Order: sequence, then structure tokens, then C-alpha cells
Amino acid sequence: MLRDWSDIYLVGIAEIDRQHQGFFIAAHRLYEEILDREGKSAVVEAMTFMREYAEQHFQTEEAFMRRHDYPGLKEHLRLHARFFRHLDELDNDLMIFGPSQDLADRALDITQDWLIDHIADEDMLYSLHVKAGGSLEDAAPV
Ligand SMILES: [Fe+2]
Repeated sequence: MLRDWSDIYLVGIAEIDRQHQGFFIAAHRLYEEILDREGKSAVVEAMTFMREYAEQHFQTEEAFMRRHDYPGLKEHLRLHARFFRHLDELDNDLMIFGPSQDLADRALDITQDWLIDHIADEDMLYSLHVKAGGSLEDAAPV
């Protein structure tokens, strides 16, 4: 199910919050292009956009966690890597079977729903770590 962005997903770090909203948009675009089923190239473009957006976003987060000596970095990196594995599997199935409602639902599950859970379970932790250690003034991402 498509969900609207909500401020309950904010982690309190402006750049990362902005990117999370962009991630949502990329996830919705992918879902809608898969459902549309008409333009194969539009699905490929939406998939590429999702992948590149996630790469850029994860780089921002990872640089931020390193800068603040976040102790959960290694585990967090593992979760980011797993996201790409799921995206690869979806990409593969799209090539083999073509777009369908099932694959659109799965796309939403591994992008939008994944992000919602990831923010609540993981991103909030590094945000709390930074907030506990100092002001967010000097916690701006690189
Ligand atoms: Fe993350």
C-alpha cells in the first residue's frame, strides 16, 4: 500500500530527512511505473533512479555515522548491502517475468516499507547516538 510521507519518520537530521523523503518518492515512482506496464524503459529508468538514489543516500548516512564514531556502523552497512540484494532480485524477476501487480507490490515492500522500518529500527539509533553526544548543530552530514 502506498503510504504518504509522515513527520513521524523524521530522525531530526535535516539532510538525511530530506533524502528519506526523496527515497519515498523514488519508491513510489518505481511502484507506479511497474504497475503502468506500458513502458519497459520507464521501469528500467525508475529502477536505476531508485538504485542511484539509495547509493547516494547510504553514502551520506555512512559518512555521517563514521564521522560520529557510531558503534553500530558495521551492522548498519550490512543492512544497506542487503537492501541492494533485494533490489537486484526484484530487477532480475522484472526482466524474466515482466511487470505485474505482484512485482509492483514487492517493489513497494522492499523500498517504501523497508525504509519505514529501517528508519524506525536503525536510523533512529544513530540519530539518538549523535543527539546524546552533542548538539545537532555540529552534526550536519558531510
Ligand atoms: Fe540507514
